[in-house]
Amino acid sequence: MSRKLRPSIIALLSLYLQVPFAISVKYTLSESIVGNAFYDKFTWFDIPDWNHGRVNYTDRETSRRLNLTYASSDTFILRSDFTTVLDPAGPGRNSVRIISKQTYTTHVAIFDVRHMPEGCGTWPAIWETKQDGWPNGGELDIVEGINNQTPNLVSVHTSPNCTMPRDRNQTGTPASLTCDGGCNVRMRSRESFGPAFNANGGGWFAVERRPDFIKVWFWPRKGGVAAPRDVISPGTSATTEAWGIPDALFATTPSCDLAAKFRENAIIINLNFCGDWAGSQYGASGCPSTCANFVNTNTAYYWNAYFDIASIRIYL
Ligand SMILES: *[C@@H]1O[C@H](CO)[C@@H](O)[C@H](O)[C@H]1NC(C)=O
Ligand SMILES: *[C@@H]1O[C@H](CO)[C@@H](O)[C@H](O)[C@H]1NC(C)=O
Ligand SMILES: *[C@@H]1O[C@H](CO)[C@@H](O)[C@H](O)[C@H]1NC(C)=O
Ligand SMILES: *[C@@H]1O[C@H](CO)[C@@H](O)[C@H](O)[C@H]1NC(C)=O
Repeated sequence: MSRKLRPSIIALLSLYLQVPFAISVKYTLSESIVGNAFYDKFTWFDIPDWNHGRVNYTDRETSRRLNLTYASSDTFILRSDFTTVLDPAGPGRNSVRIISKQTYTTHVAIFDVRHMPEGCGTWPAIWETKQDGWPNGGELDIVEGINNQTPNLVSVHTSPNCTMPRDRNQTGTPASLTCDGGCNVRMRSRESFGPAFNANGGGWFAVERRPDFIKVWFWPRKGGVAAPRDVISPGTSATTEAWGIPDALFATTPSCDLAAKFRENAIIINLNFCGDWAGSQYGASGCPSTCANFVNTNTAYYWNAYFDIASIRIYL
C-alpha cells in the first residue's frame, strides 16, 4: 500500500469493515548523515545553556580545534573536554550542542549509536524540538538520562491540555502522563542507556513521527530483540510496520491532540553537565561530592563522556 493512502482513511475503512487493516507505510531515504556530513547538516548551537548546566557549549571552530568533535569516514564523535580542571568561578566544562539545519514533521529517523557519554554529572541527549516558542512546537526526547542511570527515558513536552493514558501499546513503562511538564516512558532494556549501553556496543534508536502518533524504538547491538533488517543495514526505504511494538508510544486521544501540539522540529544532540536534572538528582544517583565540584575537578574520568554516532538516517 502506498503512503499516499492516508492512514486516517484506512482507519475509517477499517472501522467501517470491522477488520483490522494493516497500515503499511513505506518511507523513502531523504538524508544519510555520516562522518563529515555532520559538519554540513548541523549548526553549532553555542548559546548559553537554558538548563543551568555546568557546561560551556563551544562553537564549531573551537570544538574542532579542541577535538571535541571529530569525524572520520564512518564516525562522528561529540564529547566534552577531559583534560581541564575548571575554575569554580569560571565557565563550565567545554562541551558541544549541535542542531540540525533541516526541520521535520512526518518522518522516520534512525540513530545508529556506538557509544554515549557516561559519568557522574553527565546529561546527554538526542532530541527534537522547535526552539522558538517552546514548548508550543513540541519536544521529543529520544535519548536522555543522567548520572549513568539506566534505562533510557523517552519524553514528550507540549503546551497544556495533553495527557497520555497509562495503558498503551508499548513495551516501556510510563512514568509521568502529563505532557505539559513532560510525559515519559522508561525503556525496558537496561542496555538502552549509560555504561550498560556502551558495554554492549550501543545500538539503534528509531523514531516514527506522524501527525497522530510518535513511536520510539530501541534495539541493543547485541542480545535482546534483534533489530529489523532495514534498521541494521542502511537502505533506500524503511517500513516501520515490521518493527514491532515500540518502546514508547504517544498518540492522539481525546485528552491530547498531538497534531496540534507538534510543529516542525530540529534534531539536537548535546552533552550537558549538572543543571536542572543531572544536578538536582546528583546525590540520589549515588554520585560523590557535589555535582559542580565533581565536574570542576575531574579530568581523565570524563574520557568516556562522548557520543560515537555511526549514522543518522532520515526517511520521509
Ligand atoms: C567557551 O566556549 C566559547 C565558544 O566556543 C569559547 O570561545 C571559550 O574559549 C570557551 N571557554 C573556555 C574557558 O574554554
Ligand atoms: C581526536 O579524537 C579522535 C576521536 O576520539 C581520536 O581518534 C584522535 O586521536 C584525537 N586526536 C587528537 C589529536 O587527540
Ligand atoms: C487548555 O484548555 C483550556 C480549557 O479548555 C483552554 O481554556 C486553554 O486555552 C487550553 N490551553 C491550551 C494551551 O491549549
Ligand atoms: C500493538 O502494536 C503492534 C505492532 O505495531 C500491532 O501489531 C498490534 O496490533 C497492536 N495492538 C493493539 C492492541 O493495538
